[in-house]
Amino acid sequence: ERSPASLDTFTEEEQLLRESVRRFAVDVVGPKVREMDENEMMDPSVIKGLYEQGLMGIETSADHGGAECSFTSAIIAIEELAKVDPSVSVLCDVHNTLVNTVIRKYGNKEQQDKWLPLLAESKLGSFCLSEPASGSDAFALQTRAKKEGSHWILNGSKMWITNSYEAEIFLIFANASLIKGYKGITCFIATKDMGVQIAKKEEKLGIRASSTCTINFDDLKIPEENVLGGEGKGYKIAIEILNEGRIGIAAQMLGLAQGAFDKAVPYTFERKQFGQPIGTFQGMQFQMAQAAIDIETARLLTYNAARRKEEGLPFTKEAAMAKYWSSVVAQRVSGQAIEWAGGVGFTRETGIEKFWRDSKIGAIYEGTSNIQLQTIAKFLQKEYS
Ligand code: CAA
Ligand code: FAD
Repeated sequence: ERSPASLDTFTEEEQLLRESVRRFAVDVVGPKVREMDENEMMDPSVIKGLYEQGLMGIETSADHGGAECSFTSAIIAIEELAKVDPSVSVLCDVHNTLVNTVIRKYGNKEQQDKWLPLLAESKLGSFCLSEPASGSDAFALQTRAKKEGSHWILNGSKMWITNSYEAEIFLIFANASLIKGYKGITCFIATKDMGVQIAKKEEKLGIRASSTCTINFDDLKIPEENVLGGEGKGYKIAIEILNEGRIGIAAQMLGLAQGAFDKAVPYTFERKQFGQPIGTFQGMQFQMAQAAIDIETARLLTYNAARRKEEGLPFTKEAAMAKYWSSVVAQRVSGQAIEWAGGVGFTRETGIEKFWRDSKIGAIYEGTSNIQLQTIAKFLQKEYS
């Protein structure tokens, strides 16, 4: 028995979901991975497939058109998609763990009734926090919101926004009261047709099929009923959602490491040198054993953080640990996987090199590795000083 999870704490529903996502990923996404990477473009049929599979409202209630599954199910889906394509995985991850969750958690009844069905059925969402001058220092954002009658007018620019090229729904964090500093940050729901402008689509090292754009707001007019969670509540919404979202990125990196491992290890038992399969040399076997331990530790941290969140236990420190460590493991294991396959691993043919390119982003988005360490260190200081 290879991969899934060695934990046996998944419910039957979660195991069935894992199987169905795996089938979708292998059968539908698999054949398109290389082409999407080379074209730097997500195939629309993949996004449509994610909706058809019920993966775009995983935790959303059935009343709102969702699959009403557990948070752990969302994490399982992200892991399984990443084993095949980390780009498709992050598209689904941002849409669920960031966009849907903000509306489920902070939206009022009218907002939930209006936006959750759209997000579960067809409209892709994006989460717009980072700006050219505010990445790690996210609360220093400069996009401004000004009230005019029954509308808010937004001006500014967001950078690095995942899904934004294809998205129709945008959660935008803007400052509505400069004098209050970050306590003026407010979260707005906007739609593309209100005038969200795509300014630049990035060309990237990895996750190239996942769109990443700069978007501009030039007097973007948003009705007052589209404020989420109340004026000034945006900074708390952003970071509380990111605490959860980081478990999603941990799962993406875990799936990536497993995907690279699963591609390279069988090759080592087929390829012969010095008259024997290279995978039977102790030097190779010990490296593979070490990588298996790495993956297992990432898995345990990731699902532990997910379960803690689900059970209402504190999880912020554990989520930061999971995201930090899974990113280290993803980079290390995918790099080794290239070496295990030798020259073949270095070509585009096997897809192993793509996992390595894709792994680099784990240490950057949803809080860099230093930000995760800083988050963990703040807890340690509280616990020990
Ligand atoms: N959980 C809950 N609250 C937190 C928190 C956390 N992890 N970190 C900080 N806060 C709260 C503090 O309690 C404080 O709130 P109050 O004033 O109400 O007490 C407030 O935030 C400010 O705290 P600090 O002064 O300690 O925080 P800071 O200004 O130094 O930095 C931060 C805060 C911006 C959240 C920073 O720690 C951080 O996480 N930066 C990374 C930003 C990030 O993750 N961006 C991701 C963008 S989305 C994305 O990337 C998606 C994708 O790629 C797929
Ligand atoms: P900086 O903040 O400039 O960091 C540069 C370096 O300085 C890093 O190594 C960092 O660790 C270090 N550093 C900064 N501050 C400290 C400190 N206090 N202590 C120690 N070291 C520090 N954002 C969104 O809002 N929505 C998205 O959908 C989204 N998707 C993304 C997709 C991609 C492909 C990329 C590349 C980014 C995405 N981002 C998104 C933005 C992402 O969250 C930021 O890039 C990230 O938070 C880092 O910000 P920065 O790039 O400005 O780097």
